[in-house]
Amino acid sequence: MKIELMKDVFYVGIIDWNLRNFHGYSTHRGSTYNAYLVLDEKNTLIDNVKAPFTEEFIQNIKEIIDLKKIDYLISNHLEGDHSGSLPTLAKLCPKAQIVTSEKGKAGFLRMYKQDWNIQAVKEGDTIQLGKRTLTFVPVPLIHWPDSMMTYMTPDNILFSNDAFGQHYATSKRLDLENPLSEIMEEAAKYYANIVMHVSMLIKKALEKVTQTLKLKIEMICPSHGIIWKQNIGDILTAYTKWSNRETKEKVLIIYDTMWHSTEKMAFAMLEGVRQEGVEVKIYNLTSTDTSDIMTQVLDARGLLIGSPTLNNGLFPSVAGYLTYLKGLKPPAKVACAFGSFGWNPKRTMEQLNTNLQEAMIPEILEPITYNFIPDPAELARCTDFGREFAKKIKSLK
Ligand code: FEO
Repeated sequence: MKIELMKDVFYVGIIDWNLRNFHGYSTHRGSTYNAYLVLDEKNTLIDNVKAPFTEEFIQNIKEIIDLKKIDYLISNHLEGDHSGSLPTLAKLCPKAQIVTSEKGKAGFLRMYKQDWNIQAVKEGDTIQLGKRTLTFVPVPLIHWPDSMMTYMTPDNILFSNDAFGQHYATSKRLDLENPLSEIMEEAAKYYANIVMHVSMLIKKALEKVTQTLKLKIEMICPSHGIIWKQNIGDILTAYTKWSNRETKEKVLIIYDTMWHSTEKMAFAMLEGVRQEGVEVKIYNLTSTDTSDIMTQVLDARGLLIGSPTLNNGLFPSVAGYLTYLKGLKPPAKVACAFGSFGWNPKRTMEQLNTNLQEAMIPEILEPITYNFIPDPAELARCTDFGREFAKKIKSLK
């Protein structure tokens, strides 16, 4: 697919319509690997695509220019979805200079083991293309240590790579051509599953781009999903809110169950939270996609995590979910473990609490656990707890 975004600036990326799993992250709406071609005195390709799509990608470029005429191959990020075509491009564009960040240079040489002459750029370095100028802005860990953005004047385009992206396949490339609610939902899911744990770095990067460098941005061209043109304010506002780890009066109850005892506790707690008028959602880990749950975690103030005891420890689906959750450092302010047990009242709750501590949740309440099947009085206590937990949520910011 080639689309002229403005005079001499082309979209030449790939739409991955049938992708449903991106290294474990569910992509119900597919994805795209975006790349951009700029024609000037120096012709420049910004980013490239996943290796299996190389042939189609090369064809997109050939429709516009002879590859031998490309002068620069800008690689904003080393990860394979944006660099997989580089070995082929390097051969087909013999005079092209590969440009990446300093960390990217070491990474490319290690990953691709090619004898490439790579130009490493640092913050503020520029390359004159002719009428246009590229300025490089490293943004470490958004999404890998090598990541950088490329800003182009006088068009004021920010090629933001993973930042502001969405796994969203569509034949329309601009935000204004697609339903904003769908795009924002996918942008939130992307943030929650890919970069939520580096929110502090995103906050700094936003400050750098908008306040320190005061970049005037008329278009944001990320490496996944649609291009931001009409709704730039919406995505910048959302990233500001998410990177500030803002939460709302919302509780998530996330659990799995063997013989429905932990499930009974979960629903009793749900009723208590609901009675206090606080938004509450419940997810069984066997039947709900983990990446979708993380989208909800992005603005949830309280988490109630339930596990039955299996083989004297956490239920495997809960253990797996907690591994994912703690890596992503949720913004929740308070959490509590709950669940049923057969013989050992402590071990599973201790394991659950250890995971919640490692997730850096600031307040972790005393676990609630009952033997075998909770009786009516115990379920009533779960509902009482739900009410108290909801009151706490309302008292926190
Ligand atoms: Fe889309 Fe970090 O790669």
